[in-house]
Amino acid sequence: MNIEEALKKLNALHQIEAVAPGWEASQRALPEGGPAFLQPEQIIANRAWCDFGTEVDAALLHTAERIRTDETLRRFAWHCAWRLYDAPEASWFADWPTLESVLGEDAGIFYLLVGISFALQVRAFHQAMHIPEAITQATLQQPRCFADNYAKMHSGKLGIPRSQLGWLRHYTREKYFRLGRFEYWLKPHYEHGVHVYRHTTNGRVLAFAPSGARLDDDGYALDPENTAGWQTTLAITPDTITGYPISPRGYVLPDPVSIPRPEWQSALQPGDYVLDMHIPAGGGLSFETWSASMRQAAAFFPAHFPDMLPKAFVCLSWMYSPDLEKLLPPESNLVRHLSEMYLFPVPGAYLWFIFMQDEFDPATAPRDTSLQRAVLAYLEQGHAWHDGGMFLLMEDLDKLGTGYYRTTAE
Ligand SMILES: CC(C)(COP(=O)(O)OP(=O)(O)OC[C@H]1O[C@@H](n2cnc3c(N)ncnc32)[C@H](O)[C@@H]1OP(=O)(O)O)[C@@H](O)C(=O)NCCC(=O)NCCS
Repeated sequence: MNIEEALKKLNALHQIEAVAPGWEASQRALPEGGPAFLQPEQIIANRAWCDFGTEVDAALLHTAERIRTDETLRRFAWHCAWRLYDAPEASWFADWPTLESVLGEDAGIFYLLVGISFALQVRAFHQAMHIPEAITQATLQQPRCFADNYAKMHSGKLGIPRSQLGWLRHYTREKYFRLGRFEYWLKPHYEHGVHVYRHTTNGRVLAFAPSGARLDDDGYALDPENTAGWQTTLAITPDTITGYPISPRGYVLPDPVSIPRPEWQSALQPGDYVLDMHIPAGGGLSFETWSASMRQAAAFFPAHFPDMLPKAFVCLSWMYSPDLEKLLPPESNLVRHLSEMYLFPVPGAYLWFIFMQDEFDPATAPRDTSLQRAVLAYLEQGHAWHDGGMFLLMEDLDKLGTGYYRTTAE
C-alpha cells in the first residue's frame, strides 16, 4: 500500500505533504505481527505507566482493535509512531488527519495510543541512565496532562492534541525528567540567549540582550525577520561589557551601558548548561509546590550528570509574558511566580495554552476564566501579546520568595 492509497482510504489525501515523509522506510520496518503497542497487554501496561485509570481501558482496547483489524489504519498507526519516535528527524503532527471520518468519536484515541506507547522506550532509556523508577513514573504523566488539554478542547473526549504529540519524542532521547510540579531538560543555553553577569561584591545580577536582537520601542522582541524596530549590540572585551541591559521585568532598556569586566563575573552565557523548564498542565502553581520542584531539580541533575552542571533554570513561555502583570492581580499564582524570575523578551505570541484553539479566533475563543477575558479585552484594545522568557540562577534558589532580581535592580 503506498501513501496515496492509504490517505485516500483515510479521506486525507490533502494532508499528504505532512504525512508522506518516511512512509516507505516506516512500512519496511513494520513488524510482522503488527505494531506491539496495539496489543491489549501492551496497551494496559502503557496506560498504567502513564497514570491513566482503568476507566479508559474499554475505549483504548476497542479503538486499538479497530485499528489492528484495518490494514490502512494499522499501517498508518505504525507510520505515526515511527515518525514520532524512530525517524532521524523530529516531526510535528498538527497537520496530520483528524481521522474523524473513519474513527468518529474515537479519533483522538488513535493518537493517544501512539502517545502512551513511549512508555516502553522511556523506561528503557531511564534505566540505562540509572534514573529512579519514581522519577520515570512521574515523567510518564505527560500524555495524561496532554489528554486533559484534549478533553478541554473536545467536550471531555479522550485523546491527545495532535499539536502536542511531537513533544513526546524528547522524553525518549533527552535528559528530560519531571521532578515534582515541573519538567526539566538538561541542555546548553541557546545560541542567541541572554548574557548574564553578577557583581563580585554586591551580588547584583544584570542580564544583557544578545547582539542582533530586534526590538520594538518598548523593548519587547520582534520576530527576527521583522525589519522594523531597532537592534541591540553587545561587545565583550577583557576590560568592559557594553550592551543593552534587560530589566528583570522583561524588556530591554533603550540606553546602552558599559560595565567594568573585572567587577562582574559571568553567571550565564550561551552554551552553558541550563535546566530548560516546562510546566505540565494541572497541579496548580502554589509557591510551595513549584519552589520544592526547583530545589529537587537543583539536587537531582548534579547527582546524576556531574559533568553537565547547570547554571540556571530557563524557560520561554506565555507564562513569563510581561503582559500578565498588566492583566492579572499581583496575588495571582502566575504573577507571584513570574515576579520571582528574571524575565527577558523573546519573539512570539503563542496563545494556544490560554485558549486551546488550533486557529486562534477571538470571536469564538473561550471566555471562561478571568485570564481569558482579560487577554481578549487587551487584544481588542489594540495591544499586542508578547511571550516571555525567564531565568533563575541556580545560586539564587535560596532567595526565592524575596523577589530578589527586582529588589536588587530597582
Ligand atoms: C500554571 C497554571 C496551573 C496556573 O494556573 P492558576 O494557579 O490558576 O493561576 P492563577 O491563580 O494566576 O490564575 C488566575 C486566573 O487565570 C486563569 N488561568 C490560569 N492559567 C490559565 C490557562 N492556561 N488558560 C486559561 N486560564 C488560565 C485561572 O483560571 C484564573 O482565572 P479565574 O480568576 O477565573 O479563576 C495553569 O496556567 C496551567 O495549568 N497551565 C498549563 C500549562 C502551561 O500552560 N504550560 C506552559 C507551556 S509553555
